[in-house]
Amino acid sequence: MKHPITYLLAVLATVAFFSGTAIADTYEGRAKCSSCHKSQAKAWKDTAHAKAMESLKPGTRKEAKVKAKLDPEKDYTQDKDCVGCHVDGFGKKGGYTIETAKKPLAAVGCESCHGPGKNYRGDHRKAGQAFESKGTTTQRKVVADKGQDFHFEEACAACHLNYEGSPWKGAKAPYTPFTPAVDPKYTFNFDKMVKDVKAMHEHYKLDGTFVGEPKFKYHDEFQASAKEKTGDKKDKGKE
Ligand code: HEC
Ligand code: HEC
Ligand code: HEC
Ligand code: HEC
Repeated sequence: MKHPITYLLAVLATVAFFSGTAIADTYEGRAKCSSCHKSQAKAWKDTAHAKAMESLKPGTRKEAKVKAKLDPEKDYTQDKDCVGCHVDGFGKKGGYTIETAKKPLAAVGCESCHGPGKNYRGDHRKAGQAFESKGTTTQRKVVADKGQDFHFEEACAACHLNYEGSPWKGAKAPYTPFTPAVDPKYTFNFDKMVKDVKAMHEHYKLDGTFVGEPKFKYHDEFQASAKEKTGDKKDKGKE
């Protein structure tokens, strides 16, 4: 018979496993986020991330592809060694698949950075309503516990630092062909890149619905220079 402690540990592990799957992170695609966050969605469309699928088409980015020893005339849009980092949630629950190729999951969208949204987006609605009606704030921890990412670094690293010899410990194939060895401009520096307007959507002023930790380290800095949002769903019908 198993030692009682071993048995207890096994039971605890099983409980942890099942409570883990009960809130399993599921991707839904950017349409869900964009219907409320219209300002960010519009700004995102102009970013490099929004065009990530274009780069996999034949005849695009020829010079960069040749330099990385890729075939500039090849269609890479259905290549499993490529699409993983050019779409949302590849190989994960609800994420992009080559067979179904859903448009709201193609390109690097909201959930690639903010985390798969199925479990937390409902809380955004609730939090927004509570704030609007009674001024009640919601702790960020509530949505962080349901998979919303407030740190971003690991999320970026999974695509940008995924190559052989990378300083990032999680690196595993398929790797990005665009590494600092190909060109030093592909060196990923989080603190610099997270402020790069070519790739990041613009920031818009929040009402302050969510409070507390975990708060992103540049949150206050971004909010200090944020624009007024326009046409977001929450504002509709106010006039
Ligand atoms: C799902 C993978 C993925 C994630 C997650 C991701 N990126 Fe990217 N990123 C890309 C791809 C692919 C491109 C290239 C898009 C193109 O040009 O086709 C890119 C481009 C960029 C660029 C533009 C680089 C240039 O050449 O000017 C910056 C800056 C950048 N990302 C920063 C970030 C930051 C910061 C994060 C995290 C907050 C992040 N990315 C998260 C895949 C990702
Ligand atoms: C591990 C993630 C990952 C994989 C796998 C991946 N890419 Fe990317 N790709 C990126 C990132 C990150 C960038 C942005 C690099 C930067 O500009 O700093 C990028 C950028 C690109 C670019 C734009 C480069 C430029 O300078 O304009 C092209 C083209 C591209 N990828 C094609 C491909 C092709 C083709 C494959 C498959 C053979 C592939 N990628 C596989 C992550 C990946
Ligand atoms: C490449 C990563 C990345 C992608 C893709 C991305 N975001 Fe963001 N987003 C960020 C970062 C970083 C912040 C700053 C977080 C903070 O200040 O707390 C942010 C902030 C926000 C905010 C807070 C207010 C603001 O404007 O700063 C909202 C709302 C938001 N994003 C929605 C979206 C939506 C909707 C999409 C998809 C259409 C999206 N994001 C795509 C990285 C990303
Ligand atoms: C039903 C509308 C709705 C949906 C759907 C929704 N949100 Fe929100 N979200 C809100 C409201 C309301 C706030 C609070 C805005 C404020 O304080 O100004 C918010 C806040 C945020 C913030 C800021 C958090 C902070 O640190 O203060 C981010 C980031 C964000 N949402 C991203 C997303 C992403 C990504 C999705 C899709 C997975 C999404 N939201 C879906 C309504 C929504």
